[in-house]
Amino acid sequence: MARAPDSEAPSPPTTSTPAPAASKSLREGGTVEPIREILWGTSAGVRKLETIEEMPTEMRELVVRLMVVQADTEFASIQQHRPWLDNAPTLEDRWIEARIVADEARHGLQACKILREFGEEGQGMIDDLLKRREGEHKLDAFNMKFDTWADVGAFTCFVDRVGVYQLRAFQECAYGPLARSIPLMLSEEQLHLNFGYNVLKRMVKEGGHYAGSAEEAQRAVLRWYPRALDMFGHSHSKTSQRAIDLGIKRWTNEEARARYIQEITPLVAKIGLELPREDFDRRIP
Ligand SMILES: [Fe+2]
Ligand SMILES: [Fe+2]
Repeated sequence: MARAPDSEAPSPPTTSTPAPAASKSLREGGTVEPIREILWGTSAGVRKLETIEEMPTEMRELVVRLMVVQADTEFASIQQHRPWLDNAPTLEDRWIEARIVADEARHGLQACKILREFGEEGQGMIDDLLKRREGEHKLDAFNMKFDTWADVGAFTCFVDRVGVYQLRAFQECAYGPLARSIPLMLSEEQLHLNFGYNVLKRMVKEGGHYAGSAEEAQRAVLRWYPRALDMFGHSHSKTSQRAIDLGIKRWTNEEARARYIQEITPLVAKIGLELPREDFDRRIP
């Protein structure tokens, strides 16, 4: 039997007011408004660029440069992971290795799709990228071998995490196709870095019952952390400031590196490992 309105129990206090119909989530049958405007830089408020023909030359050159580096790191990491596809210590680790390799291949493809937009020039760069072998890559972190399982853990924990910061810096950037490619890549990268963190954690906690030892994990931290910090680039880079002005990147190299250090420091301490000083073994100050 329906109850009279005045006999209804008072509804519990709510902290938020009900959302208007227009902002219903997709699950509630609503819609999601894409962000069409450039959010920062000298063209903030103007429509995002959807084709390369609309781009000023400086932006075209920057996007090409950034996508070549992006694709290069994705393809390089496949070469680094490859020996561990059938040497990882457990069945589950082998499966995750396979998944990481597939994800990195997809990220490489995605960056190359953007390069393809640049016609013959872009295709030439893709051809060159596909020829690069171990030791020929742009960034030092991608020219180092994974000698031990601890290297795999430290690489995915530290280097993939830098990758996440680089991707987040492009999130909602001024070039629409690039902006839209970021969320899926980010969710995949999150799996990689969680995996790496857990590998290091298990090495410390379980030692030989799992793989390696706490000492091996600590050595790997010292090997990869400086290379990860270098990946952000020079602290006073003019290009990184221009990338912000052009609406392509959100942070300067130094800002992104500082955010990264702030995030990783307590995480590493929590599993009983120690980070070296920020300037330890650095090649790019
Ligand atoms: Fe990736
Ligand atoms: Fe990754």
